Amino acid sequence: MTQELWAAVDDYIATHLTAEGEALGAVLAASERAGLPAGAISANQGKLLELLVRMHGARRVLEIGTLGGYSAIWLARGLPSDGRLVTLEANAHYADVARANIATAGLAPAVEVRVGPALQTLRQLVAERVDPFDLIFIDADKQNNPGYLEWSLKLSRPGTVIVADNVVRAGAILDPDGSDARLGDGGVQGLRRFYELLAAEPRVSATVIQTVGAKGHDGFALAFVL
Ligand code: DHB
Ligand code: MG
Repeated sequence: MTQELWAAVDDYIATHLTAEGEALGAVLAASERAGLPAGAISANQGKLLELLVRMHGARRVLEIGTLGGYSAIWLARGLPSDGRLVTLEANAHYADVARANIATAGLAPAVEVRVGPALQTLRQLVAERVDPFDLIFIDADKQNNPGYLEWSLKLSRPGTVIVADNVVRAGAILDPDGSDARLGDGGVQGLRRFYELLAAEPRVSATVIQTVGAKGHDGFALAFVL
């Protein structure tokens, strides 16, 4: 199996089943023009998030790591008409781009983009005593994944689904001293600690699905709050 083949199959799937992702090409182009780093999920991964929101009947969704709003748009597409997505972004410029992209997609009324380091905005949400979220998508700086999981649990209820992107990184997670240039120092160690917390945490039952495609070999963690 090669990256070329994975990408071709990803494209085949997207062409057949994820045609609605075509409309989001403009969103990705706008993010690139605004100087945002690549790193958005693929269209097929976005469709998976949309379906998870729908299948779970989620009305309140939280995203940690907005970037340009691409995954936020997929998540919000899965919501019922009275559903709500809160998405957290550390970088104010990224958040501005995301708000514009979300508005372009016609989803601005359903989405709140909060700016600030997520460990702070998560604390703020807990302090505000917001209702628990039905689904939480973690896709920010992987160094802080352990903290994001802890705060996510405080914002969960039994039955909440927690999804996390990038938990395989072409197998870099197998090595305690592993590194991934694109995740920065400590990214792989943050992911390994995240696995350890999931394993030790009696409040969740979790697994990881490995993914291949346009984004290479990576994985989504899926955790269910008991
Ligand atoms: C990259 C991909 C991601 O999905 C992410 O969250 C961060 C970085 C990347 O490959 O650069
Ligand atoms: Mg990611």
